[in-house]
Amino acid sequence: MKILAIETSCDETAIAVLEIKKTRAGEEFSILSDQVASQIKIHAPFGGVVPNLAKLEHIKNLPILLKRALKEARLPLGSRASKLDAVAVTYGPGLEPALWTGIEFAKKLARLWRVALIPVNHLEGHIYSALMQKSKFKIQNGGIYPMLTLIVSGGHTELVLTKKRLQYKILGETLDDAAGEAFDKVARMLKLQYPGGPEISKLAKFGNSRAINFPRPMIHSKDLNFSFSGLKTSVLYYLREHKKFSKRNIASSFEEAVVDVLVRKTVKAAEQYKPHTIALGGGVAANDQLREELVRKFPNILLPDKRFTGDNAAMIATAAYYRFTRSKNTKRSKNIKATGNLRLSKG
Ligand code: KG4
Ligand code: ZN
Repeated sequence: MKILAIETSCDETAIAVLEIKKTRAGEEFSILSDQVASQIKIHAPFGGVVPNLAKLEHIKNLPILLKRALKEARLPLGSRASKLDAVAVTYGPGLEPALWTGIEFAKKLARLWRVALIPVNHLEGHIYSALMQKSKFKIQNGGIYPMLTLIVSGGHTELVLTKKRLQYKILGETLDDAAGEAFDKVARMLKLQYPGGPEISKLAKFGNSRAINFPRPMIHSKDLNFSFSGLKTSVLYYLREHKKFSKRNIASSFEEAVVDVLVRKTVKAAEQYKPHTIALGGGVAANDQLREELVRKFPNILLPDKRFTGDNAAMIATAAYYRFTRSKNTKRSKNIKATGNLRLSKG
């Protein structure tokens, strides 16, 4: 079957077409097209994502990406001729004005092509991204579960246990800033470009991570929650107290503090829940220091290909496939609503 997926939860407009073949061992996925239009340049002057600007950009980009995606996947645009089996769309969490643009667009396409419309949780997409390699990948039946995923993005920092396919339990999460958000805010303090995560990690490679002893918030707490706002404030105080400072050393020491906490809590969750598989997902999963430290602790960890760490629609299509096969015989919702604070659920 073929699924076209749409992702507009934040500042990337994305459309992907995937073909999925069922085999005895599991499923084979082929990415026929994976289009992403980043809005970074539009939001950079504001130092962060402006929801209404994001909305206008999505409205502008969606028809362009649709044409490109269908062309690349060799599918016709016309109403009757559709060879697609379903349209999927992210309905949360994210910025509601941005989410709505994707939902409205997806509803129109599903109506035009007379196919099912599958609502997908963005975080479920990030969880599946760890299972995606290159343009063709296989997902085997069962086997990998229970799976522990560390999701680290601009909006989320969560340790999630997937007990069985589509059954999630949030083991711990950030009580304030997300890891990516902390990277972005510290980058702003250092007058680096938006988004700051990639900039900090580039600088950090040339710095001394032992130069400044930033705090590791909640690293010894009994629970599996996180907090990054105090760490961010420590960087601010450091900058106030020092007339002269090395941006490289700050970047490197800050990055090490974040990575230390993320890795320690993942180890703790793994000891507690003894999952079969450990995985990483989300924009911050592009961070090399985090990847290296996690691999040191968990040599078999599933790391998403860097192509799939940031927001994309291929991961939404992959998650949608399992939602679709699960609810094939039930009536699908025509009343999908953007849900900014959507959470992963027990299924
Ligand atoms: O998953 P994502 O693309 O969007 C959300 O769903 O939030 O994540 C974006 C976040 C941003 O905060 C960005 O600064 C961060 O991921 N990020 C990084 C790196 N690349 C992106 N953070 C640290 N190191 C990186 N290399
Ligand atoms: Zn994301």
